[in-house]
Amino acid sequence: MGYNIALNFEDGVTRFIACDQSETVADASYRLGINIPLDCRDGACGTCKCRVESGEYDGGSYIEEALTDEEAAEGLALACQMRPKSDLVVGVFASSEVCKTKGQSFRATIGSVDRLSETSIAFSLEGAGPISFLPGQYVNVLVPGTEARRSYSFSSPPGAGTQSFLVRDIPHGLMSSFLREAVPGTPIEFVGPSGSFYLRDARRPLLFLAGGTGLAPFLSMLGKLAAEGSAHPVHMVYGVTNDADLVGVEQLEAYAARIPDFTFATVVAAESSAHPRKGYVTAHIAPEALHGGDVDIYLCGPPPMVDAVRNWLSGQGITPANFYYEKFSPSGAVNAIGESHRAAA
Ligand code: FES
Repeated sequence: MGYNIALNFEDGVTRFIACDQSETVADASYRLGINIPLDCRDGACGTCKCRVESGEYDGGSYIEEALTDEEAAEGLALACQMRPKSDLVVGVFASSEVCKTKGQSFRATIGSVDRLSETSIAFSLEGAGPISFLPGQYVNVLVPGTEARRSYSFSSPPGAGTQSFLVRDIPHGLMSSFLREAVPGTPIEFVGPSGSFYLRDARRPLLFLAGGTGLAPFLSMLGKLAAEGSAHPVHMVYGVTNDADLVGVEQLEAYAARIPDFTFATVVAAESSAHPRKGYVTAHIAPEALHGGDVDIYLCGPPPMVDAVRNWLSGQGITPANFYYEKFSPSGAVNAIGESHRAAA
């Protein structure tokens, strides 16, 4: 039986490979020309050590010098020994370049462009077929007519026939300017998927914190949760600066109807807003949503929001079990380096 293995490299590039249950992850990688670090191939040296972010596997046989019991308990494994028992997400401790691979290139066309508000535009791409990615990841889009690339998180779930994205409309922004005039059918190229900000297996309650168009990766994650279900409660606080920035609420309501135990609250920072919840997201995170720290927090928003939430959590005396975050630039694009971190707050 074959499984789908996502190899997530240190630089955020992700390649998906097929791996039979009788095959090691290392053998499947090399069969497809992806040279993950290897030496002894025998479970003795530890060179192929990797981190299994999700999925079930048989760790194989090896000696303690290659992988300690503590490391195995933390989810580390040896690629030359491990065989999948389900789809896996595997973090490789090397860059894609070192492993002689790179992100996949896709050609598509503009499917639709929808102005959601005076500050936000959604667009979709067609023709690339269903694309494998981890919900929360992004692609690097070549802005048509330029040499510039912009990084955008998928707002659609993995495997959808068309891919959708959410963009902040910047007056002189290259992508914004293109989208304002774009017509369906216009060719567009992109490379990906990339990023370490993706939804892991839920082992405890989840708290999603979205800032502005940082909503996009969460829509993708919610799409996956709607399709597969969630055994744990999921709460989202979605903050924006002005009323016009508040988009995608109907999608959130639709997901709340489909996902049991998914709740969300919207927040607007502007003083002038008549929104019922005003200020910053930290003022609207109920203590129950933190579960005393037994919570995985995912945050996607501008850099000041990431810093504010980290400071606020430490002020509350809360250290979440996991804190994954991604910063994006004011244009709404993911930072060029796709900054994503797993860190204690
Ligand atoms: Fe030596 Fe895997 S390559 S333990």
